[in-house]
Formats: sequence, structure tokens, C-alpha cells
Amino acid sequence: QIVHLADYRPTDFVLERVDLTFDLHPTETKVEARLIFHRSEGIDPKAPLVLDGDELVLSGLLLDQTELPAEHYTATPDSLTVKDLPESAPFELTITTVINPEANTQLMGLYRTSGVYCTQCEAEGFRRITYFPDRPDVLAPYTVNIIADKAANPLLLSNGNFLGGAGYGEGKHFAAWFDPHPKPSYLFALVAGDLGVVEDTFVTASGREIALKIYVEHGKEPRATYAMDALKRSMTWDEERFGREYDLDIFMIVAVSDFNMGAMENKGLNVFNDKYVLADPDIATDADYASIERIIAHEYFHNWTGNRITCRDWFQLCLKEGLTVYRDHEFSADQRSRPVTRIAEVRNLKSEQFPEDGGPLAHPVRPTTYREINNFYTTTVYEKGSEVTSMIATLLGRDLFRTGMDLYFDRHDGQAVTIEDFVKCFEDVSGRDLTQFSLWYHQAGTPLVTASGAYDAAAKSFTLTLEQMQPATPGQTSKEPLHIPLRIALIAEDGTLLTPTSVTGAELTDDVLHLTARTQTVVFHGIPSRPVLSLNRSFSTPINLQFSQSAKDLALIARYETDHFARWQALIDLGLPNLLQAARDAREGAPVTCDAVFIDALLAAASDESLEPAFRALALALPSEADIGRELGGDNDPDAIHTGRRAILKQIAEAGKDIFASLYDSMQTPGPFSPDAASAGRRALRNAALTYLSQSDDSPARAKAAYDAANNMTDLSAALTILAHRFPDTAEAKAALKDFHERFTENALVIDKWLAIQAAIPGAATLDRIQGLMETPLFKRANPNRMRALVGTFAFSNPTGFGRADGAGYRFLAQEILDIDQRNPQLAARILTSMRSWRSLEPVRADHARSALMQIERAGGLSTDVRDIVDRILKD
Ligand code: ARG
Ligand code: ZN
Repeated sequence: QIVHLADYRPTDFVLERVDLTFDLHPTETKVEARLIFHRSEGIDPKAPLVLDGDELVLSGLLLDQTELPAEHYTATPDSLTVKDLPESAPFELTITTVINPEANTQLMGLYRTSGVYCTQCEAEGFRRITYFPDRPDVLAPYTVNIIADKAANPLLLSNGNFLGGAGYGEGKHFAAWFDPHPKPSYLFALVAGDLGVVEDTFVTASGREIALKIYVEHGKEPRATYAMDALKRSMTWDEERFGREYDLDIFMIVAVSDFNMGAMENKGLNVFNDKYVLADPDIATDADYASIERIIAHEYFHNWTGNRITCRDWFQLCLKEGLTVYRDHEFSADQRSRPVTRIAEVRNLKSEQFPEDGGPLAHPVRPTTYREINNFYTTTVYEKGSEVTSMIATLLGRDLFRTGMDLYFDRHDGQAVTIEDFVKCFEDVSGRDLTQFSLWYHQAGTPLVTASGAYDAAAKSFTLTLEQMQPATPGQTSKEPLHIPLRIALIAEDGTLLTPTSVTGAELTDDVLHLTARTQTVVFHGIPSRPVLSLNRSFSTPINLQFSQSAKDLALIARYETDHFARWQALIDLGLPNLLQAARDAREGAPVTCDAVFIDALLAAASDESLEPAFRALALALPSEADIGRELGGDNDPDAIHTGRRAILKQIAEAGKDIFASLYDSMQTPGPFSPDAASAGRRALRNAALTYLSQSDDSPARAKAAYDAANNMTDLSAALTILAHRFPDTAEAKAALKDFHERFTENALVIDKWLAIQAAIPGAATLDRIQGLMETPLFKRANPNRMRALVGTFAFSNPTGFGRADGAGYRFLAQEILDIDQRNPQLAARILTSMRSWRSLEPVRADHARSALMQIERAGGLSTDVRDIVDRILKD
């Protein structure tokens, strides 16, 4: 039941080609798979062929077009074993299965969503369609024939290029597709139904014209134009930045409303959660536009990093995901503002990946065992995987990194490879030994780097002592020191950069200091005055850093650093001790105070017109309650954290009243709505100002006026959030929630925002509200987006509501998990990860959390997905 990397071995049979025929029917779809195999060289000539299945029923089996007698094979729901096969000649198996798309509530394999047939095969969904060697190292060209009722399914889509189509008897038609690029089964896709389309074309660098099509529900075509624009920009960027051209005649995206994840990179036919396709100013926030741009790019970039070069086995998932996230981050940085996108990435990394890496679900970027691969589509594999890729780029420099990527594409095109193959390319182009660096892939846990510095005025030298510590994580107790590329700057009191004449004790290339030993003493010579040290500029390495700096030094960094990420980090570092102390004081019932140096620096940044508005907005968004909890590290009382943070917000609000009022006036975006990054930044700063103003307001009047005046979803949802969170019991908040609901009843994606805003209302009363909302007809339990909006937001983003002291939030979640698990194990397991930090709660809540987890643990009939997560979360 547990899969080990060490057990990997190649298949006994080579799959030459795949020919699939689907006769679509809502409840009885007939799938005929014709597979041509031959035995791999040197394999036992008697070895049987074992194919994967999942809940399958075999209804026919032919060998070379002749029915195979029963004694030659064994079929169970999860495997098909065929014996007595030809020893050396290729042979053809024709496998017929009958599946029920309508009954497929797991949303893996072939299922139906709003009357549309669609598939999700990564990681192991193809085996729910037909018996198959369902693993990523089995690559073949596919031909796909789709037969369906013509009126209900005018559209019949699959991977590759369109071969042709025609009528097919009474009321039916068929279409045939051929994908010449050998691919593993997880990249297979089929879509059939009746959808609208937005069409465009793209001419590649070498002059080929590609047809681009985005399919959405009829009537929603205008909302797909931003996604189309993002797609074309992605195609151009990948040509310019990585020399990657698209390789089929057509590229299609289909938006569906029931989808477990964000999107899927099936060859030539990406399937998307419609949340990441549909946008217009009335329904999408600036954050939605940014996500759509990023995810469209991400899936498109997979065509080279994932599809043309894929993973040998699922342990290598970060080979495609970490790398592709790195590529989409670079894309966003180039399309928008590099420091602003970097800050957003790091905030996300710290609030999502750091808790994973510091808790019971910690695992290496390249794991060595798993029980359920679906549970490894994690922020560690994706986001930390991206950080590791980014560190390779830092070590090599931009040009050499590109050379290494070129070699990777050259050397491994058409193959299924490993992380070792990937890293080797960068070793080969740079001559650098990346053995120690590779430990980043293999050792879990966020390293802690402790730094201390001393200036010697007489010797004009600055001595920096660095120590790295790798925390123990499940299954990994002792670890080796890592190669940590730490970007640094030494700044003089007047804000200018100090450049040492020489450095001893560590390699320094440009601003990158290479930390390789457990402890290292680095001396910077020729430093004329006491330097202020800026450590981990751009967040060049994903570590926790312990370095005590005076508020004065931090304020200096916040003011003068040329690296704007570091400025933002300095503001956070200035604010954090205040937030931590506030939580402790609130717990004791003591008054909360906030350091004036911090407030001054924050307000200075907020009103500094030389800074981008988006940056200023990010500076004003203090660490979240969950972030504060993580920094406190244990015995957490969510109510005290909330009360303390609110008190700090209020003090900032009072001190900055005039600044916020003038920002609210000046940061308007007149004229028609534009989703560009600069306008989005102005809206973000304006809404941040409004949020602070509402902290010192005692009435909802200002927020209500903002709600009434809003003419786009960014401003509307920001105002609604303030009304609902800051003034939850007022008539104004109730009226706005009602109005919003009435205006958007027809739009499920906007209703998700309405649900999420309410799920995040702080306080113990929110649980009742959620239970009430679950009874409304708008709430569809089978829909993952609805579930994530309401139950997911509550569990992940509402520490005081979910973590109410009587434990009712945890008990509610346990019930929901058991219920969701009956239909959709992947979704249940994902939402359950919200409990991963339960051990850092204060004892009473921790006890309640444990009981709720035990209730899940003891329940019968759990999916492997939920069983795996609950076992790991509870394990000591
Ligand atoms: N490969 C997809 C992406 O990141 C995600 C697929 C997730 N599948 C899953 N079974 N969890 O673009
Ligand atoms: Zn991906």
C-alpha cells in the first residue's frame, strides 16, 4: 500500500501506440482501448502483462482481434493481468470497459459537469477509464475517436490535431483526433458537450499559425477574452525567455465548473476550473485577474516542462511542478512588477508552505514514499520546488541558467526523467558540483539560519557569524548542512551601499553569499563605517532567519534598500515583535502598545510616492493571524492573537488617519476599468486605506458609502468584507450582504466570494452562519468551488471562528470531512489539511482538535486519501 521510490523499475512491456474509441453515454459510456505492446528487451518471455484499473468492469478482451479465453487473463476492478502473450512479436490488446460518467463524483477519470463530459487523469485517473499501464514513464502516441449524440454534444475534443469527423448513424456523430507527441496517460483528455468559444490565432517565432480556442458556457464568451490575452502573452514570453515554441496546430482550453484543482495541462487541451478563466470587471477582482494570468501561463508552460519532458515516476512531481511554478513566477514578474510579485509569493510561501514544512505533513520536495499520490500535490512540491529551482538560477546566474535549461530541453525531449537528470544539466553547463545543493530536494523542513554581526572600527572589518540548523521532520531526524545562497547588502548609515574590498570565510559572488557549512564566520574587509546588514534580499533562499536588528537599523533598510522586497521584509520585521507582544498582552488582559518607530516607518512607506502603490498596499497588510500564530510557535490562543492584532491595527489607523484619508481620495482610478497591474495597485492601496479608516470609524457609514459607490468587483468585495468583518451586526452589513446576494444569484463564482467573505467573519458566531448557508439552495455540496469557498475558507482562514474555544468548529469539520469523503476523497483530504497545525494550539483547543481528528480516524470506510492525512496529522 505504501509506494517507495527505491522500488522503481521500468515496465516489462513497451507501449507502441494507443487507439481509443469512446461511445459516450451519460451513464453507460463504452470505451474500447486498442493497445499495441511488445516485450522490453531482456524480460522474462513468460512474464504476464499487468495493467492498472480503478473500479473498472471488463466487458471484452481481444488479443490480436481474437477473443481471449478466460484462462489467459484475470480481471478485477483494479487490475487486468494477461498471461501467455507473444514472446517477442508485438501484439494488440483490445480492451472494452463500460463506465458511468454521471455517477463519478470523485471528479477523477471521465465525469460530467453541467452536462459536459470531461476528464481529469493526473495522477491516476486514466485507470478509471480503461485498464492501462497508468504511470508517467509509459509514453505513446494516441488516436482518439469520440462518438456521441450530436444535438447534446456538438463539440467533441481530445488531445492533438483534429483528423476529421462525420455523421455516425441516427442522431450521432463522431470526431477523430491524433496526438503525434508520445505522452503518458495522465495527459490524456476528452471533452464533449455544447459550449461557446472564443477564437484567436498565434503566429509562432518560426511562422506557424496556431488556432487558439477557449471554450466556456454559452453566453460567457466575453468573460474569456482576458484569458485569451494572457495565453498569447504566455506563448510570446516562452519563446522569448526560454526559446520554447508551441508544437501542435491547435491549442484549446475548456472551462468547467466542477474541478478538484486549479487546472490541468493535458496536451493541447487544457481543462480549467472556470474560476481561473472567467473574468470581467463586474465579477472578477484584481487578484482574480492576476491568478488567471498566472494559471493560464502555468498550464501553457507545462507543454515543455511536463509534457514534452515528463516525470519518470510520481516521486519526481516537482520536476514539472516546481519548475513550472518557477516559470510562471518569472512570467508574472516580467508582466507586472518584480518586487511586488515577489512579496506576494513570499507571503504565500510563508503562510502556506512554512506551516506544512514545520508540521506533521512535512515532506521533502522530492519525497521517497507515499501512500496516496494525490496528497503530494502540495505547496512543498509546488512552491518550495519553485524556490529550489530559483536558487539554481541564483547559483548559476541568469545566462548560465538559460544554457542549462536549453541543455535540459535538448537532452531529454520526449523522455520521462528524474530530478537527478535535471540537476545534471546545470552541473554540466556550469562545472559546479551541485551534490550538496541537491539536498534541498531531499531534506524536509525549513532551515533556520541564525546570524550575528560585529563591526571592528579599527580594523575596518565586519564579521558575520552564520549558523544553519535543519529541524527534524517526520521520518528525518538528522540532516546535513545545505548550500544556502544568501543575497546580502551592507548599507551605510546614509543609505549608500558599502562594497567590501575582500571577503574571507565564504564565497561571495555579486551579492550572493554561499553558506555551506553548519557554522561559518565571514569577514568583510575594507568597510569604512558600521554597516547595516540586509540579509536574504529578494528572499533568495526559503529559510527562517534569526537576526536581531535594532528597530533603527530595520527602519534604515525599509527606507534605503534598493531591493524593494528587502524593504518590505524590514517593515514586517519591525512590526512582527509588536504583533507577537500584543497577542501575549491580550492573553493576559494587559493593554496593547505599539512601537512608534514601526508606525512611523509604516506610515512613511504608505505615503512615499516614489514607491509603487501595490508595494505600499502590501506593506500595510500586516501578517495574518495565522502568520502570528506560526511565529508564536505554540500554546496559541486565536482569540488573543485576534484581539492583539486588532489593537495594533487600530493604533496604526489612529496615527495614520490623515494619511489614509488622503490616500483614499487620491488613489482613485478614473475612467473605464483596466485590470493592469498599476491600476490594480492603486485599488489595492485605496482599499487598504479604507480598511484602516474603518478600524477607527465607529460607524459603518464610510464603508457603506464605498460599497454603494463601487463600480467593479475589487472595490465592491473589499467594501463588503469591511462591512461584514468589522461591522458584522449592523443593518448596513446585513443589507449589503443581501444586496450582493441578490445581484449575483446567477453567478456561482461571485456567490463563492459571498460565501467566503462570510466564512471568514471572525468570532464564534460564524459557525452558525455557515451551517445556515449550507442549507440555502445556492450551496451545492458536490461542487468543489462552493465547498472550498465556505468550508475551506472557514477552516483555513478563520482562526477565531474555526478555532472557537468550545471545539465546535473542529467537530463540524470532522463531520463535513466524513461526508465529503463519501463523494470526493481528494477534496476531503485537501480540506482536512487545515488541521495540520493543531499541535500549536493551547491545550484546551488542542484537545478538542485531537478528539475531532480521532473521530475521523475511527470512522469506517475512509478513503486512502483521508486515511493518509489523518494518520500523519495525528502521529506523534
Ligand atoms: N498538474 C496540474 C497543475 O498543477 C495539477 C493536477 C492536480 N491533480 C491532482 N490529482 N491533484 O497544473
Ligand atoms: Zn502544474
